[in-house]
Amino acid sequence: MAITTQQLIQWKQQGRSIVALTAWDYAIAQLIDAAGVDLILVGDSMAVVLGYDTTLPITLDEMIYHAKSVRRGVKRALVVVDLPFLTYQESLQQAMHSAGRVLKETGAQAVKLEGGYPAIAETIARLVQAGIPVMGHVGLTPQSVHQLGLRQQGKTQEASERILLEAIALEQAGVFSIVLEHIPADLAMQITQKLSIPTIGIGAGTHCDGQVLVTSDVIGLAEKHPPFAKVYTNLRETITKAVQDYAVEVRDRKFP
Ligand code: KIV
Ligand code: NA
Repeated sequence: MAITTQQLIQWKQQGRSIVALTAWDYAIAQLIDAAGVDLILVGDSMAVVLGYDTTLPITLDEMIYHAKSVRRGVKRALVVVDLPFLTYQESLQQAMHSAGRVLKETGAQAVKLEGGYPAIAETIARLVQAGIPVMGHVGLTPQSVHQLGLRQQGKTQEASERILLEAIALEQAGVFSIVLEHIPADLAMQITQKLSIPTIGIGAGTHCDGQVLVTSDVIGLAEKHPPFAKVYTNLRETITKAVQDYAVEVRDRKFP
């Protein structure tokens, strides 16, 4: 049975924690879906596995190309696709066009937009009215890296209040869930208690309604990872060893 946005909201009410990970192609999506992940995000953080330093260069066409591949691998999880930098901020029309393309061309069920400032909340409200499920994202928003850096957000009283108000505005705009990235755990707890939609944390402590990590960090494929990521296995080592063993055997004419 495919997971719906309503199911995630129900799980919050029941206190069942939501498991989310990112994916960038069929192979990874198929594996993590079969392993029981509830929500699969085609995050613009795939910039990392494509060799970019930030998420800014990714285009909507690239996101759609990868999301189609991911979608083919998923049977159960809810698939959410990031709208990349400057494909939704320009105007409502631009946002509607971008989100519409993602849903129509990829078969994903929802899109994610960064930010909680008034213009974004308004855009999101209109997308939701048009029947497009939207996930919010506040705290550290990597598309604003040149303004925010990659530092933890919401550390002062003022910043913390602003993030709480943004989260409330996004819930009112109709998002079905919100990512809370790299904010203090007590702020994430406060937001989680205040909202009736699920919060999905990344570097936001244990009190969120679910957790998301970037899969290339979790499996040790990324060259570097943020301090809050947990590396569960080291695929860089595994792959390097396999390739070196193969190279030795070919050169020694032991394989085939
Ligand atoms: O792109 C991404 O991977 C994300 C997650 C960090 C939430 O937006
Ligand atoms: Na993202």
